[in-house]
Amino acid sequence: MLNESAVRIDSLQKDNAHYLRRQGQFESNVRSYPRKLPLAIAKAHGVWVTDVEGKTYLDCLAGAGTLALGHNHPDVMASIDYFISSGMPMHTLDLTTPQKDAFSEKLLSLLPGQGRDYCLQFCGPSGADAVEAALKLAKTFTGRSSIISFSGGYHGMTHGALSVTGNTGPKDAVASLMPGVQFMPYPHEYRCPLGIGGEAGIEALGYYFTQFIEDVESGVSLPAAVILEAVQGEGGVNCAPPQWLRRIREVTQRHGILLIIDEVQAGFGRTGKMFAFEHAGIEPDIIVMSKAVGGGLPLAVLGLKREFDAGSRALTRGHSGATRWPWPRGWRRSTPCSNRTCQPRPHVVAPGSRLDWWSCSNVIRPSARCEGVG
Ligand SMILES: Cc1ncc(COP(=O)(O)O)c(C=O)c1O
Repeated sequence: MLNESAVRIDSLQKDNAHYLRRQGQFESNVRSYPRKLPLAIAKAHGVWVTDVEGKTYLDCLAGAGTLALGHNHPDVMASIDYFISSGMPMHTLDLTTPQKDAFSEKLLSLLPGQGRDYCLQFCGPSGADAVEAALKLAKTFTGRSSIISFSGGYHGMTHGALSVTGNTGPKDAVASLMPGVQFMPYPHEYRCPLGIGGEAGIEALGYYFTQFIEDVESGVSLPAAVILEAVQGEGGVNCAPPQWLRRIREVTQRHGILLIIDEVQAGFGRTGKMFAFEHAGIEPDIIVMSKAVGGGLPLAVLGLKREFDAGSRALTRGHSGATRWPWPRGWRRSTPCSNRTCQPRPHVVAPGSRLDWWSCSNVIRPSARCEGVG
């Protein structure tokens, strides 16, 4: 058991450096954020966090998109309180519970077409785990071995997810990542990878992708899947143009390539629609969900078209999950979170909607107004 007096809010050491020093003694060098933000956080509420020295900060990180409702939202806390004293099981592998049942029904109803063509695959428990499950499902279903990913994409830090991530920083240190990954250029408003820019640049990128898939001389066999974010999060909040997304959808459909859209960071109302791909009116074959769907607790789920589930029969428990599937209490907790984030409630989803990410020139092209942007 923890030394209770050491963790009580009223008996903390009021010194960030004290905790950072100890963190350095306890944890490996893999620590990341504390190097940039040397704080020990004591309390959090909504968008605010307060360090042990009593300074309060506006939390622009929000758990990298995990805390869609902010810290300690009252509904979420009430749900956790209820769970703790309810006698519900902490752990059931993937045996169902009434809470999981209700959560599954709710989550499916949020997917395109109220989820009629989709089923859920619970993975556990991080976004990267779900990416791994999606890649394996695509390979198993198609019998193909390669994956196409995009520059600027981020999909997590596990072996396969890192292989399909664009940023070479964390990749260079790990030898021989997953083979068979081909990167293609992703549209960028300020730094068009083809050096063309504007509508012509977007058109050229769509054309290039199509040629690459369809030209038998391209040197690349048809992949099992294409994986992308409709809004790249770590890649700089970079929105894919809808016409480009539609083109990717058309081409992948034509060639039986599974389109995996990673909504781990952009999903659940963060762009003004439930999922970022909805701005392009497309339906992915696999939707990767994590972060906000768990309201802060670890939870990762795939929404996959039922026709591909047939291929996943070969994937037994050992292939698709973990001993610790997200906790049943996660179901209980994330139900209100999903309710909150996922209904078109004016105070949660609509503000993003009003921004109209993709078409409002003031948002997508601030470089026109602000020197130094872009
Ligand atoms: C788009 C996207 N995919 C996958 C992940 C990986 O999620 P996790 O860190 O939970 O493994 C992240 C994390 O930031 C992400 O932003």
